[in-house]
Amino acid sequence: MQSEQTDILIIGSGISGLVCALSLADTSTVTILTKKSIHDSTTIMAQGGVAGVVTETGDTFLSHIDDTIRAGEKHNTNATVREVIRSAPAIIKQLNIWGVTFDPDLTLEGGHSHRRVHHSKDTTGETIQNALIKAIKSHKNIRIITTAHAIDLITKQKKCLGAYYLKDKTIHAIRSTVTVLATGGIGQLYRHTTNPSISTGDGIAMAHRAGAMTKDMEFIQFHPTALLDRHNPHFLLSESLRGEGAILLNSKGKKFMQDYDARGDLAPRDKVSQAIFLEQKNGPVFLDITDQKASWLKKRFPRIYQTVFTRTKKSLSKDIIPITPAAHYLCGGIVTDRTGKTNVKGLYAIGETAWTGLHGANRLASNSLLEGAVFARKAADAIQRQISKPTTRQTQTFTTTSPFSIPSQPYRLKKIRAKIQDLMWTHAGIQRSESGLKKAMFELKRLKNILPPEHCINAEIIETKNILEVAILIVQAAQQRKKSLGCHWMV
Ligand code: SIN
Repeated sequence: MQSEQTDILIIGSGISGLVCALSLADTSTVTILTKKSIHDSTTIMAQGGVAGVVTETGDTFLSHIDDTIRAGEKHNTNATVREVIRSAPAIIKQLNIWGVTFDPDLTLEGGHSHRRVHHSKDTTGETIQNALIKAIKSHKNIRIITTAHAIDLITKQKKCLGAYYLKDKTIHAIRSTVTVLATGGIGQLYRHTTNPSISTGDGIAMAHRAGAMTKDMEFIQFHPTALLDRHNPHFLLSESLRGEGAILLNSKGKKFMQDYDARGDLAPRDKVSQAIFLEQKNGPVFLDITDQKASWLKKRFPRIYQTVFTRTKKSLSKDIIPITPAAHYLCGGIVTDRTGKTNVKGLYAIGETAWTGLHGANRLASNSLLEGAVFARKAADAIQRQISKPTTRQTQTFTTTSPFSIPSQPYRLKKIRAKIQDLMWTHAGIQRSESGLKKAMFELKRLKNILPPEHCINAEIIETKNILEVAILIVQAAQQRKKSLGCHWMV
């Protein structure tokens, strides 16, 4: 089997992968491997925005740092928090240079004590993704391989040498000097999620198999307000709705957040999701922004206004909207240092797939696009220092033997996947118990035994194996943390 060659292999095409590619492409050849199209990512679905202090408004870095650490229940790495938050103005400026335009006003989200979220109406992620893709497409040193499922990292003596991937029913190998995992989140491990179908924890599973360390995997953030309808992934009702005055109502039509947290409807996400979880025991919970005029809502939240109407025939300006918490973000991930480096030589991880210490036990809203972009730049700087002599793109090939084969018969994995999602939702979801986690672990290990053999791969097998592997990592981490902290809620 022939393998291709690139200086930098980036797996994933969200904000962190794209920023990293753009930051390296002037001096190196970069290949982006993406599971669907270059437009498919969690970034593109982001509504809220990028948190960043604008001192002219009276805000301070100290306040953003305090809010991040308070939301994260002091489980954060303080040096990382300080560094990322102080880097926000520069990264926002850089995004502007790449063509990203934010609205002139700043918005508010839960846990923030100041308006500091830079947004583009309610489609901030799409604005960012589209601008970055435009910049990427005009760069001759960046090659994009779409519909390519990364199978595993190629490693030798604890060093990462590239990756195997599946495209058009053929197994390929690509060799790289440096490999960057920017594979996003894990929402698809759960029955209810806001994450797209691609969020199957592939990077974490591959890194784990290659010997990389993971940390804080138990801290799964559940977004409090996903639209409750039959769609999955659930459509997000941005926290900025509450920032602009929306309130939560219980089944009796009563406001309830103040009974759980003095910060009320704008408490950090873990507190709000946990309160909703309890209120849901007595009936449905709703989001109410009927105080705002239709004309204003249509202008400020056009996507949300339209999608809610299309899906439910309800109008944000007239009706209260049924909501549910849904798996939204992994606060932990592959352990990285302050430059995105993992403990496997030649392997970096950035964005949601990485643990940097920023989020602690619960991420502050709109800190994740910020983290993705900041660490992509830091990783690019470190990689640039590491690569002394750039090789020429795709001119060198290696011969390698693939350890994988594509099965001739189809495997039926839909049921296994649904079973994992149910187990995780029920036992490793918003509320957890020792006995529930034990049951989940027992069942997950049983499922592992009935999966196809190691070498056997196709797109569905790759994802299902990864989902299962990451589910086990989450339950293991949750079992080790006996007491509640942030989004890990034990009873
Ligand atoms: C939201 O708009 O509520 C999501 C923002 C985020 O996840 O940070």
